[in-house]
Amino acid sequence: MESKNTRKWLKSHHDTLFPFFPLLKRRNIDWLFDRLREREKEGAKGALYVHIPFCTGKCTFCVLTKEPPSHTTKYVNSVLEEAKEWRDYFSHVETVYVGGGTPTSLSSEELKLLFDGLRETFQIEPDAEISIETTASELTEEKMNMLAELGANRLSVGVQTFNPGIRKVLGRRSGGKEVIKKLNRARQVFPLLTIDLLYAVPGQEKRDVIADLQIGVGTGIDGISLYPLIYSPKTAIGRQFEQPPVEIAMDIFRNAKSFLEDNGYNHININHFSNGRDKFRYSTYFNSLGNVLGLGAGATGFLADCFVKHQSTSEKYIRNKNRAGIVFNVPENIIPVLWCISQIQYGRIDIEETERRWGFDLLEAFAKTIKRCVDRGEMIIGKNVIELTTEGMFWANTIGAEMAVECLYGGKSKRGELMSLEDK
Ligand SMILES: C[S@@+](CC[C@H](N)C(=O)[O-])C[C@H]1O[C@@H](n2cnc3c(N)ncnc32)[C@H](O)[C@@H]1O
Ligand code: SF4
Repeated sequence: MESKNTRKWLKSHHDTLFPFFPLLKRRNIDWLFDRLREREKEGAKGALYVHIPFCTGKCTFCVLTKEPPSHTTKYVNSVLEEAKEWRDYFSHVETVYVGGGTPTSLSSEELKLLFDGLRETFQIEPDAEISIETTASELTEEKMNMLAELGANRLSVGVQTFNPGIRKVLGRRSGGKEVIKKLNRARQVFPLLTIDLLYAVPGQEKRDVIADLQIGVGTGIDGISLYPLIYSPKTAIGRQFEQPPVEIAMDIFRNAKSFLEDNGYNHININHFSNGRDKFRYSTYFNSLGNVLGLGAGATGFLADCFVKHQSTSEKYIRNKNRAGIVFNVPENIIPVLWCISQIQYGRIDIEETERRWGFDLLEAFAKTIKRCVDRGEMIIGKNVIELTTEGMFWANTIGAEMAVECLYGGKSKRGELMSLEDK
């Protein structure tokens, strides 16, 4: 099938942030500490993200910041040292997300060192949502029990697909049946179990995606993230294969969404479906510009209207004594724009809230994009809200970036061209 589409399909929320980058102001860390000190007095709560960049996998599609495990204990100690640098400015933690790489490539002792250290440093609320990412091939009985003991209550397993042929294309290590066995066991150990699945993978048909979802639903998975495959030139798959026409990807997405909704799952953000139990509180912080403290190599946080980035490799991170990150402040006048673009992840923006909080008229600021989206059937303007339809949810990251470009650059500037992780 030849695609008629000429519009850029952006697949990642990172793509919606590119238009903001040229407008950010570089600040030093003390400037941010001062701001946080003020906010801490108001009793601000936050989310914690810890990046574990290690992974022994060689997946053909992986776009994440990762490296083979080495000096892992030193790395964990460096993360804990960084945590201490923040403790006077950031203490109450409502949700923790440990992501990677594959965090379970740390030994049980290192995982214990990490969790104990974080609890000593911050006040992690007793009912905090504590998520950790893993992959089936590394999920041993010992690790599962250790994680549960350490208080991890939401396990996120990267499955991608259960289909043996497609798993081969993706370079996954374990077989589909082994993954199902591990999920059934994890189901007994963790209060919340979520999985990542991919669509628009080379050779994958619509029915293959439904077959994956059927297994997920049948296993009683609480949250299902369904990502379109990003064909990055950095990956083997991106160099070897053309992505399927966008019309085919859209059809798969529509079908998957209605399958999950028919089976009692709610579409809670662009890529995530929940059976009602999985609240995914961490993503709520991220998409509402709440405080997210990122720790570790490659981690990006968002604190007091600033992005905080870190050294990209564990070696540089361990070596660099100034670990607390590089600060980029979002100028006050574009905070409401960033907020609207982040809310798009949920498929709805509250018109009244932007007006009340910032006196920002979003219908005027994004007038052209909104009109085009309404004409295409991607958006509906309700009483106090704009909402995306199913087609709109498929295009949501593109729509977010189009809104940003319209408002920040009048839709014209060269800097305002849409950029994606798939660009060279
Ligand atoms: C840190 S990884 C998951 C944990 C674990 N390392 C694993 O692979 O099972 C987070 C998720 O990013 C997603 N991801 C990685 N590369 C991607 C790509 N090229 N396109 C879309 N999603 C991707 C995958 O769904 C993956 O599960
Ligand atoms: S997808 Fe996961 S297991 Fe595969 S290389 Fe990336 S981080 Fe490692």
